[in-house]
Amino acid sequence: MLEGKRILLGVTGGIAAYKSVEIVSRLRKKGAEVYVVMTKSATEFVTPITFRSISANPVYTSMFDEPKTWNIEHISLAEQVDVALVAPATANILAKMATGIADDFLSTVLLAVKSPIFVAPAMNDAMYHHPATQKNLGTLQERDIRFIGPTKGFQACGTEGDGRMSEPLDIVEELENYFTQHKTREMSGKKVLVTAGGTREPLDPVRYIGNFSSGKMGYAIAQAFAEVGAQVTLVSAPSEIAVPSGVEVVQISTAEEMYSEVLQRFPEQDIVVKAAAVADYRPVVRETQKMKKSGQRLQLELVPNPDILTTLGQKKQHQFIVGFAAETQNPLDNGLEKMKRKNSDMLVVNDVTLPGAGFGTDTNIVSFLFANGSRRDLPKMSKLEIARQLVKEIANLRSKTKE
Ligand SMILES: Cc1cc2nc3c(=O)[nH]c(=O)nc-3n(C[C@H](O)[C@H](O)[C@H](O)COP(=O)(O)O)c2cc1C
Repeated sequence: MLEGKRILLGVTGGIAAYKSVEIVSRLRKKGAEVYVVMTKSATEFVTPITFRSISANPVYTSMFDEPKTWNIEHISLAEQVDVALVAPATANILAKMATGIADDFLSTVLLAVKSPIFVAPAMNDAMYHHPATQKNLGTLQERDIRFIGPTKGFQACGTEGDGRMSEPLDIVEELENYFTQHKTREMSGKKVLVTAGGTREPLDPVRYIGNFSSGKMGYAIAQAFAEVGAQVTLVSAPSEIAVPSGVEVVQISTAEEMYSEVLQRFPEQDIVVKAAAVADYRPVVRETQKMKKSGQRLQLELVPNPDILTTLGQKKQHQFIVGFAAETQNPLDNGLEKMKRKNSDMLVVNDVTLPGAGFGTDTNIVSFLFANGSRRDLPKMSKLEIARQLVKEIANLRSKTKE
């Protein structure tokens, strides 16, 4: 359940901060990506290097540090995570969250997070029962902040009572429970069609015109939708990649075959993501026998293939359509123009000339372009991570349009 999930862990200045190292370790073992943000007080208890080593990610400790990426970090981090967890949550951070104070990196990022926020309070029994703390807890509960604990027991200050942080094992289990429930909800019942791979346009029985697309991006998108409960159909050009579990695959070879399979299924779909690299042209003549080598120059005549994305844009009713644009120059301008011309709702654009981007690689560097003209640039990440971000983005957009 935690595989590939991006979790922001806020660590504040409580004695239980040392236990958060175990939380990170457990989350990582279950495949989650953890981004630790520490308050200044937390660094008095555990050093950032401990969290950096265990999380294998940079640790955020200050608002005004040299940025670790070129983005405005507290905003980009907030946008990318699936959940935020504050553990231990001091009386102080709970008060700041309740009143909206943003005077350090953690309190600021927590105001920008749109994903669910979990807190694991940890403090002395008297601090926990203080009316100010109780009022803050009430405010946070009304705002749908999710509480894990605290429990009763022996406290570091020598007293016995309420306010002990829940054990790391229980905290991780709560997050897993959340993702289990969430999985069945987020896209369950939604019909999603994804296209993938590079089409092949035959010249004769043994040769074709093709491209370098491996299908990795499209297969990752199919997997990411299946993970959140969608009913996924993958219309795939030939690819070596294993079909993700729970995904129905329709194998095709040419652009025309892809056109007809996609168009036939389009009316019943809720979402269509066109990640395939479809040949723009095909040979006019498909020889029935293998073409013989003549030693002379060979001229091939090509005719345009039907444009699937354009046709979908014209026939669109309730469907949400996402196009892909693999560009080699001016990716953003070309992408924006393509999205408008083809009446898509979103476009994923990448400059295939960049190292770590494009065909065949396991990673990609993409920007999401939206119909309202806004855009989101993602740093280099695995294709599966991009796919999950895409699914999250589509889910957010669709829930906003319904509101
Ligand atoms: C040894 C020690 C242990 C502390 N443990 C806690 C604690 O468990 N819970 C808490 O709310 N505050 C605790 N505090 C007080 C916080 O560190 C203090 O309120 C601080 O301002 C919190 O800052 P932060 O919320 O930005 O991390 C402790 C302080 C010390 C010196």
